[in-house]
Amino acid sequence: MSRWVDMKYTLIAAALVALALPVEAQNFSGLGRPATPAEVKAWDIDVRPDFTGLPPGKGSVAKGQEVWEAKCESCHGTFGESNEVFTPIVGGTTKADMKEGRVANLRNEAYPQRTTLMKLSTLSTLWDYINRAMPWNAPKTLTTEEVYAVVAYILHLGDIVPADFVLSDENIREVQKTLPNRDGKVFFPGMWSVKGKPDVQGSACMTNCKTEVKITSTLPDYARNAHGQLAEQMRIIGPFRGADTLSPSRAQFVPIGSGTTGVKAASAAPVQSAASAGLKLAQQHACMACHGLNNKLVGPSMADIAKKYADKKGEAIAYLTGRIKAGGSGIWGTVPMPAQAHVPDADIRAIAEWIAAGRF
Ligand code: HEC
Ligand code: HEC
Repeated sequence: MSRWVDMKYTLIAAALVALALPVEAQNFSGLGRPATPAEVKAWDIDVRPDFTGLPPGKGSVAKGQEVWEAKCESCHGTFGESNEVFTPIVGGTTKADMKEGRVANLRNEAYPQRTTLMKLSTLSTLWDYINRAMPWNAPKTLTTEEVYAVVAYILHLGDIVPADFVLSDENIREVQKTLPNRDGKVFFPGMWSVKGKPDVQGSACMTNCKTEVKITSTLPDYARNAHGQLAEQMRIIGPFRGADTLSPSRAQFVPIGSGTTGVKAASAAPVQSAASAGLKLAQQHACMACHGLNNKLVGPSMADIAKKYADKKGEAIAYLTGRIKAGGSGIWGTVPMPAQAHVPDADIRAIAEWIAAGRF
């Protein structure tokens, strides 16, 4: 491992020299210091499909249930079935899939969702992802035992291991052999084939690269509006509006890095939207990732907040403005609301006014 890192640094140094920097800039002596083995180790946490990198340890389904209920259930649902914050983790797999190694529902167009367990072909991915990224609001806080345990619990919810199972580095390869979609990987050659080659190529530009990307392709007419006006559709999570698919002249892509990203309406006619300005701001600043309008998610619903402070009348707006900015916990439960100091004051105030008005 450390030899590999040494080699990588040598390669990076060689690459920098090759970039033909001025001679004086090539002299890096005295700048920075090599990473210590402990620092490299702290970053080197990936677990490969063959389980290289998996730390030794174990965790039971029972312990996993405790972890799940304390740290995962609020977002993913009691049985991993919730569709609120992310697509469901569990569901859609069968005993027959476990024999087959491919999940039949993936080919069933009537099946409403693709869950994590349906798609998962390497157990290492589930272990690694939870270890590095979950819980979403406190990544890398789980102990090794908790990761084993919660993975075991998810597998149990999916009927892949029994209730008294203890997952460990010693038996994880055996469990991999029963994963419903273990043979489900397919190779996609490219979206379109142009003269037998994929339509896009992955070679990175290193010199004389274009600074602006001009998109020359357009949406074909038959695809326009096939799924309704995308610009008026919005998921609760991941607030990215679709393009204006109604008329060709109004849709204009703005390349990333040009200040405004995404899609904007080119004509003076504003995109019709039922959402109020307050809701738009709350979506833009990702408040709706944790707050539903009328339902509790990670935080209380906007309607409940409005109700709670309805008596405060004029003072409610000032109070809410302060709370949104500073965050905090203890009023609605133990889960903290992160400080929103990065949101501009004017937007916080507008959102506070919108919440206080209580019309959802
Ligand atoms: C505060 C909400 C929240 C909590 C708590 C939370 N998650 Fe998640 N989880 C998410 C979100 C949001 C995503 C999608 C993240 C993304 O795609 O960037 C996600 C994704 C996942 C995925 C990947 C699913 C896939 O198919 O890609 C797994 C597995 C997962 N979470 C497991 C857990 C476990 C285990 C815990 C508890 C230890 C947990 N989550 C706690 C919000 C949460
Ligand atoms: C990571 C999840 C999360 C995000 C993102 C988030 N909140 Fe919260 N919010 C919470 C939680 C949890 C609470 C409950 C805190 C408590 O019990 O005191 C809360 C509480 C609140 C309250 C009530 C405070 C009180 O004193 O009763 C308001 C108002 C609020 N949030 C507004 C917002 C707004 C506006 C945004 C976006 C700018 C936002 N939240 C983003 C999780 C979140």
